[in-house]
Amino acid sequence: MSEFVIPEYRIATDRLRVGVFIRLEGLKWHEHPFLFKNFKITAEDQISTLRELGIKEVICVPGKSDCPPWDASPPSAVPEGTAATKSAVDELWRIKQERAERLKRQKDLIARCEKSYLASQQRICEIMTGIAAADANSVEDVADFAESFSAHFLQDAESTLHLMRFSPQDENIYYHSLNVAVLAMMLGKEAGVGAEELNILCQGALFHDVGKSRIDRKVLVKEGRLNKAELDFLRMHPKYGVDLLAFAESFPKLALLVIYQHHEAVDGSGYPKGVRGAQIHLLSRLVSIANVYDNHCNKRNPADSLTPYEALSFIFTKQRDALDEKLLAAFIKCLGIYPPGTVVQLNNGAIGMVIAVNPQDQLHPNVLLYDPEIPPQDALIIDMQSDLDLKITQSIRPAALPQPIFDYLSPRKRITYYVNSADPAAQEGAQR
Ligand SMILES: [Fe+2]
Repeated sequence: MSEFVIPEYRIATDRLRVGVFIRLEGLKWHEHPFLFKNFKITAEDQISTLRELGIKEVICVPGKSDCPPWDASPPSAVPEGTAATKSAVDELWRIKQERAERLKRQKDLIARCEKSYLASQQRICEIMTGIAAADANSVEDVADFAESFSAHFLQDAESTLHLMRFSPQDENIYYHSLNVAVLAMMLGKEAGVGAEELNILCQGALFHDVGKSRIDRKVLVKEGRLNKAELDFLRMHPKYGVDLLAFAESFPKLALLVIYQHHEAVDGSGYPKGVRGAQIHLLSRLVSIANVYDNHCNKRNPADSLTPYEALSFIFTKQRDALDEKLLAAFIKCLGIYPPGTVVQLNNGAIGMVIAVNPQDQLHPNVLLYDPEIPPQDALIIDMQSDLDLKITQSIRPAALPQPIFDYLSPRKRITYYVNSADPAAQEGAQR
């Protein structure tokens, strides 16, 4: 039998007391000084502040309250606004103003990051076209790109992994390459890989699947299980990748090894050689983890994709024997329990989507909040590093969201990542 929940109801503010959970109604974010419209009264000051603001009524949410409000006749009147109350209100406004400025800076940074991402996509597209035509200049371009891209990870100690707003078109196959490069480099940095090898890692990750261009499209897009002949053919793509780049003398040999080994598994169950453990180069093991994760999140049919949270759980429970244990632990640590793209509920009842995580502090991601009174393009972004009272209580499958919330948060068909640098100059550098 389902638990009975008392419905929400409107009450006068002089019936409020500590422990009652309320929602402010009909007020836009900039019209009240509280950080949220939904919150539990934790101090008498908050009641005085509501009165000082001239708010006569609020919505009581019994299901989230510790106690009911006072009945119609409170035991003592809440004091009228005093100088102390006025100063508390001023302080709330000051904090909120600071928050608005921080939000503005954050949105500027996201805009820079998105601009860099699109520029990188464009460059990768040009480079891949050049490689297919065996154009040696394109190989030089790869080295330049990898060098500037590595700057993101090296110049800023706290590169933040962002979820991109753009869902690439299906025919754009390069988002997977870029995702794997971003994730592998994030992990490489965490694993202590130096600048030179990070650059090579970038090149290997970007080209790990280049050999698929020689696989019959019918095999690549086939629904269901492949037969043995088709599987054997598909498993040639690491070798084909190396063959394709053989013309390019300047392409690093180690990056070729990464391409060749990206489907090898530490338990020997991989291909093409079935080598195991340390026989697989560290850089190959890094790309392997990033590749497995991104393949779960971005399946050919988006409806089959796992959420980032599910992908990590699946890998940890079902595939960890095939992957480097220490690197996998580092990967989960970097992405956090709730990786970018995860829809979450907070302890104040709010629903949002994780849009960025700082690998140095993955317990406190940035969350874009659903609020029907704020247009989606102006949606609030909570920096959980600055709101330590807030906690994520659960992740929610996008399919379980009510339609208006789904539309507002627009969970991506494709999950694409990029990194920002706090230094705008480094960000610009990656666009060159
Ligand atoms: Fe592959």
